[in-house]
Amino acid sequence: MVMSKIITIAGQKGGTGKSVTAVNLATSLALLEKNTLLIDFDPQAFATQWCGIKELDYTSDITMVLTGRIPFKEAIVKTQVNYLDMMPAVFSLFQVALKLAKTPGNEKMLRLLLKDVESEYDYIIIDAPSSYGYLSICAMTAAQWLLVCMTVQQNCLEDFHCLLKMIKYIRKTHHVPLKIAGFLFNRCNFKKQIQEFLEDQNLLDIEQMIFDTFIPEDKNIKESIDLSHPLALHDIKSPAASAYLDFSKEMHFFLQ
Ligand SMILES: Nc1ncnc2c1ncn2[C@@H]1O[C@H](COP(=O)(O)OP(=O)(O)OP(=O)(O)O)[C@@H](O)[C@H]1O
Ligand SMILES: [Mg+2]
Repeated sequence: MVMSKIITIAGQKGGTGKSVTAVNLATSLALLEKNTLLIDFDPQAFATQWCGIKELDYTSDITMVLTGRIPFKEAIVKTQVNYLDMMPAVFSLFQVALKLAKTPGNEKMLRLLLKDVESEYDYIIIDAPSSYGYLSICAMTAAQWLLVCMTVQQNCLEDFHCLLKMIKYIRKTHHVPLKIAGFLFNRCNFKKQIQEFLEDQNLLDIEQMIFDTFIPEDKNIKESIDLSHPLALHDIKSPAASAYLDFSKEMHFFLQ
């Protein structure tokens, strides 16, 4: 029986490419014919829109699941990519989050809900908002692995240490063996940039945890966002699409 690998895309800084990575890593794993579920756990619903899932198309979403109105499976929708299913988000998720956050222990809710479906998917990818709020803690508590997105443009030493504290808190509070899968550099065109960045940020001690693949700056990303279909459907040969395909193979190999 398949037991899915649950990966939350983390990083407390906004705009590092978490949603871009969630959508394109999930699409790439699906192109490798891995049964993949992409969960949009961000009220911005960016991943939902990018996968071409319009609010008109679905009558149920994650808020109805979190409030116990419908079972998890009923809110899952098919996408335009074979092997890729999606749990859509809507803006009102932030209101549901405010209510749920009042009850201690609700941070485990998504983890418990995934028990229903984890035997049906090889991978479950969760896109969470960049904050220390209920939704990102819940998304991290549901995962086995954290994939941390970084860019060489942003000072993220502080961010990195906060993330480590957050992981410690989640492990201790919820007794879950959460681990960092590794660091993925985004918007980076040369390996040398990463080396210089690590030296500059005094982050050489994470060098071993950085994935070989890095995602280049690619204008095709904006174009495919505007067209509401994942990058691989827009131009599979584009620099970032082929990088995400390489990355999905590296990630798959790493998690075996
Ligand atoms: N490799 C890239 N090449 C070109 N543009 C990119 C790249 N990665 C991200 N972007 C641009 O940066 C924007 C922000 O990326 P994304 O939405 O993935 O960030 P995020 O980390 O999810 O932000 P938030 O914290 O707000 O959820 C995207 O809309 C896209 O236009
Ligand atoms: Mg995002």
